[in-house]
This record gives sequence, C-alpha cells and structure tokens, in this order.
Amino acid sequence: MSTRTLITGGLVITASDELPVDVLVEDGRVAALATRDSHGWTADHVIDASGKYVIPGGVDAHTHMEMPFGGTLAADTFETGTRAAAWGGTTTIIDFAIQPKGGTLAEGLDAWHEKAAGRCAVDYGFHMIMSDVNESSLKEMDTLVSSGVTSFKLFTAYPGVFFSDDGQILRAMQRAGANGGLVMAHAENGLAIDVLVEQALARGERDPRHHGEVRKALLEAEATHRVIRLSQVAGAPLYVVHVSAQEAVAELTRARDDGLPVFGETCPQYLFLSTDNLAEPDFEGAKYVCSTPLRPKEHQAVLWRGLRTNDLQVVSTDHCPFCFKGQKEMGREDFSKIPNGMPGVENRMDLLHQAVVDGHISRRRWIEVACATPARMFGLYPRKGTITPGADADIVIYDPHAEQTMSARTHHMNVDYSAYEGKRVTGRVETVLSRGVPVIDQRTYAGRAGHGSFLERGICQYV
Ligand code: URP
Ligand code: ZN
Ligand code: ZN
Ligand code: ZN
Repeated sequence: MSTRTLITGGLVITASDELPVDVLVEDGRVAALATRDSHGWTADHVIDASGKYVIPGGVDAHTHMEMPFGGTLAADTFETGTRAAAWGGTTTIIDFAIQPKGGTLAEGLDAWHEKAAGRCAVDYGFHMIMSDVNESSLKEMDTLVSSGVTSFKLFTAYPGVFFSDDGQILRAMQRAGANGGLVMAHAENGLAIDVLVEQALARGERDPRHHGEVRKALLEAEATHRVIRLSQVAGAPLYVVHVSAQEAVAELTRARDDGLPVFGETCPQYLFLSTDNLAEPDFEGAKYVCSTPLRPKEHQAVLWRGLRTNDLQVVSTDHCPFCFKGQKEMGREDFSKIPNGMPGVENRMDLLHQAVVDGHISRRRWIEVACATPARMFGLYPRKGTITPGADADIVIYDPHAEQTMSARTHHMNVDYSAYEGKRVTGRVETVLSRGVPVIDQRTYAGRAGHGSFLERGICQYV
C-alpha cells in the first residue's frame, strides 16, 4: 500500500536552490515539489514546516563506529552512533572497514558488515582502509568497487599500523585510476612524527598538548604535497581527509589551480576548536586528541576560506569517540597512548548552521559541503544529498531559530563528554525522515535499529 507524506509550508534548501515549496513523499522517495497554491495533494501524514527549513539529510562521509584503536574500541556502536547521527540531522554515514594486517580486504569488509547489519538507524556505506597493499589486495580493489565499496583510505601516518609506503600508495592510486575507485589519504609524515614523539617523551613532555606539537603542520603539508604528486603521476583523483593545517590547504589550492582532480575534507573540530583546547589543564586536553591534530586558531580562517572558495569541498566529522574515563585516560602519563579521535556525528549539521549564522558560509553552501558534495564524491547522488523527484526521502525539518546548548548531558552519542560542552548555537533538528520513515518526530526518537540499509555506492562523481 502506498503511503504519502506531505511536507508543507517550509523553505526547501538544496545546494543549488532555496524554494518556498511543498514536498510530496511517496513510498520512501521524493515524488514531487510544488508551490502550495499550485497543487491539490492529499496525504496520509502532513508535516507542517512553516517557518522551518526543509533540507536533505546530512551525509557524513567519515565515521568510525566501534573502531579498534590503540588497544580500545571507539565507544559508539553502529546502533548508538547512527541514532546519534539521526538526532543531529544526518541520515547517511560512510564508515571505514579495516583490512586486517596480513589479511584480505574481503575479511575486513565482512567483519564490518557483521558489526553494522541489522543495527543501524540510518543508511550506511563503507570505505575500505588498506593496511596491507600487495598484489592480491590490489586485485581485490576491483571486486570492492563492483560491490559498492568504491573508496580506499591509505595512510602516510601510523607506521606499523595503517602506514603504507609511497610505492604502495602509488600502486593503489594506479589501480583506483583504472577501476573508478577513489583514494582517500590520511596525510601526515608518520615516520618523522614518530621520531618527534620519541624525542618529546625523552624530554619529559607527556601532556596532551604535545600531541599537537609533534604532529607538525609542516609534516601534514609535506605529506599532502607528496600524495598530490603521487596521484598526479598515477593519473588518479585524490581526496585528502581531515585537513587541518593552512599549509596543507595551500598545497590543495595550488594543485587545484593547476587543474588537478584533488579534493579536501575538513571537520568541525578544526573549524571551531584549536590548540587552546589541547592545552586545557588537568588532562582535559586529552578530549581533543585526534589526528591530524587541532591547530592554532589562525588556521581556522584559512579553512573557512577554503570552504568558500571550494578548495575544500566536504565537511565530515571523523567521528571516533573515546570516553574520557577509562579510554582517553590510557594516556595520562604519555600523550602518545591517548586514543586518537573525537566525537561529533551529532553536532556537524548544527555547527555548520551556526557557521551560516556567523557568516562564514551561505545556506546553500552549508547543504553543499554537508550533504550534496559528499553524496556526489562517494557515488550516492542524487539518491542522497538533495531533495529532488526520485531521490530517497531523507529529509530534515530544521528550525533555524531554536537555541540550544551543546552538552554531554543532552547528546545521544555514547561518550562521556562533549567537545563543544556549553557552546550555544542557533538552529536545531526537529524532524528527520529516512526514506520517508520518521526517525526523529518533533524531537522524539521514532527510529529503529535495523531500519538503516547498506548502500552499494556507485563510482565517485568528481565535483
Ligand atoms: O584521530 C583520528 N582521526 N582518529 C580516527 C582515525 C583516523 O585517522 O581518521
Ligand atoms: Zn585519518
Ligand atoms: Zn578518520
Ligand atoms: Zn509526524
């Protein structure tokens, strides 16, 4: 039986338009858009969006639910993490499956399917982390691309864990260039960083702030430059994840000015937080340990500018939460033992709306960097990331005037602190539909573990 939902009276905002139109949803998809006085639609369910924005569900292209790191596991499961995503207006996540060292891509992918299947509140896809590039894993990349896992993360950081050498990265890029996959790079010079870590510890520098000092902006820029040139040699596109240093933005800008298909992602933590947070006393700085690290405040303006000039295209969260108690505390005596990562999947859409309020980006750019471009980049557009006939009805009714204070007391992420504790923002998610089904209904959770489906992604559409 067909079900129809009518969303009426709101302002529909996509990456390309802002239109005062009604949206008709039928059987989980957007059926039509029309001005209120031009249609005579009836529906089983009517959502009054007067005074509200009607926006596509957020697409968070970088999360790590239950990720093993430094002897512990990221605290959000696929169940809790996707529920928190929905609360924050995100209806698609792309998480990272990990190839075990000495194992195959298929083993890694199977393990992540196992963790996620039947548990997610919203739709999800996977990228593949390649931690062992060899003849057989290179061949397997083709199989993954044809089964909807079309992007591969390679690391110049974390020697002995995820690290690949330049030759391995080049080979993976060549393969992706041939099979339509996209290489994503974690660009920091991990070998040099490990030397600086050892030297800092030998000097007795053990506090969280030293994490930011040893992971130097220059070493992010150097690795960014290197992966750009490797991708140029391979004739393949490149997506650099979690860009935080202004010097790395400069590398991307120069390459893009030369016409290279290279793309950059940044994250809310780099736009709103800084080394001041890493320096918070009483080990509180550990809450902000992630890699690439937070940078001095002056980098923020360059990141905002990059988002406006399209030298950076995507804002993802790199959501990888570890509790302060028991997890971050593992590094009390040694900053290099603090598990790397921060919570944020629930906060991204609101923080970026605050950026609209603050004048950093326009409303349409908000939707572009948080919904449309990540969907395009990772082969989900126009099914996800926009509101257009035929698209999945992943739709958020957003109240642009509501005020909220971010806090661990009220958030839904399974982590005992908020990186934005006490931050006041304007704007709040009111209702969230995933394929037409309410997940959040007027600020009440209406979702279900297992509603979310695995998304077989197409090949990346470069923007
Ligand atoms: O600190 C971070 N970013 N943790 C997650 C793993 C990664 O490198 O993205
Ligand atoms: Zn990374
Ligand atoms: Zn990450
Ligand atoms: Zn309702």
